[in-house]
Amino acid sequence: MHHFHYITDELYCENIPVKRICEEVGTPVFIYSRGTLERHFNIFQEPFVSTDHLICYSLKACSNIAILRIFGNLGGGLDIVSGGELFRGLKAGIDPSRIVYSGVGKKVSEIDEALAADILMFNVESEEELVLLDRRAREMGKKARMALRVNPDVDPLTHPYIATGLKKSKFGIDISRAIEIYQRAREMKGIEPIGVDCHIGSQLTELSPFLDALERLKKLVWELSHQGIEIRCLDLGGGLGIPYEDEIPPLPAVYGGAIVEQLADMKLKLILEPGRLLVGNAGILVTSVLYQKQGGEKRFIIVDAAMNDLIRPSLYRAHHALWPVHRKVPVGVANGRVLADVVGPICESGDFLAQERYVEAVQTGDLLAFMSAGAYGFAMSSNYNSRPRACEVLVDGDDYFVIRDRETYADLIRGERVPERIQQAS
Ligand code: LLP
Repeated sequence: MHHFHYITDELYCENIPVKRICEEVGTPVFIYSRGTLERHFNIFQEPFVSTDHLICYSLKACSNIAILRIFGNLGGGLDIVSGGELFRGLKAGIDPSRIVYSGVGKKVSEIDEALAADILMFNVESEEELVLLDRRAREMGKKARMALRVNPDVDPLTHPYIATGLKKSKFGIDISRAIEIYQRAREMKGIEPIGVDCHIGSQLTELSPFLDALERLKKLVWELSHQGIEIRCLDLGGGLGIPYEDEIPPLPAVYGGAIVEQLADMKLKLILEPGRLLVGNAGILVTSVLYQKQGGEKRFIIVDAAMNDLIRPSLYRAHHALWPVHRKVPVGVANGRVLADVVGPICESGDFLAQERYVEAVQTGDLLAFMSAGAYGFAMSSNYNSRPRACEVLVDGDDYFVIRDRETYADLIRGERVPERIQQAS
């Protein structure tokens, strides 16, 4: 459920016509709905309210500080994967005691920053990282709270690029080696082992991989307890999918209910790291039609958004529903639609936002909305082809706010310089 809807064929976000925003801030633009963000957080949290839990929003999905603040206001923490994400979290006023830090390649400087901030937990992904974390913590006179991110080897049944919990994956530590590494960690003066962690993949549409992973983590917690290592936090990662097209992922209530039930016999703080579920359907990317042309085999609608704005279709062949901002043809009616590829201006054949899609006949200047673009949309955008990145807008009822300015040409060359000796051709 989200707050993008038609009122007499005009697309609205909450109480604001999308067209008005585009007229005032231009296109391409990402538009987020505050009501939807809050609704998703509350629905996700609902099954866990009677359990000791913390929802650490995985901000890689959409990292604008206004959005972090919205979840922070609701009691959420963060799952970070870089020093930059820590910086954003702190800027957004998120309490470091609600921040967990995952990632296979934490740099010394990043570890130091997180130690200085005194975050809740480091999710350690290799033995070398553990040794480094111990050393830096001791040198800084600190004790790092730690969970091993284990790789439980379950198949998340998702796109191979976003499957992370398989044996062949670069993420985490093989679960069969976990006990010995925890034993080693226990002896380290700079380390306090408090948790176990996993994240098996993203856009999961089945419940069973989560429950299989949880079962393996529970077993590990029991085994550690027999070794005298008492685990207090169980972090199950993120990954719950959303409906982009015709997927039917488990409802948050079903997902949460099953997890709570499986953990009923354990006294653990449950940590969850949802990303996509919270923001995916709370954001859209709106673009203007520039041109149309009939190629040798295909019809193309050329728009002003491109793979640099939304890379998911090019990278994962992901499907984003396409809604006209002004609807001319009733839903479900085939007449009046054309079969077309919707493509951007970038000089790559892989630059498409939709392929072989039945789209309502459009004209230059018409606005099209790519739905479910809130997660991994702006966050994965780039300046490829020297295209300034889109602006981000947050709608809140009758008002809207620009939460990130559209980049300017000056932004494109910020930090670049021409060394003096090549200023003039000799
Ligand atoms: N925790 C960890 C350690 C992660 O690596 C991720 C996502 C999450 C949580 C959040 O997963 P979510 O709830 O959003 O599924 N760019 C891809 C998705 C990459 C996911 C990376 N890790 C896409 O556009 O589909």
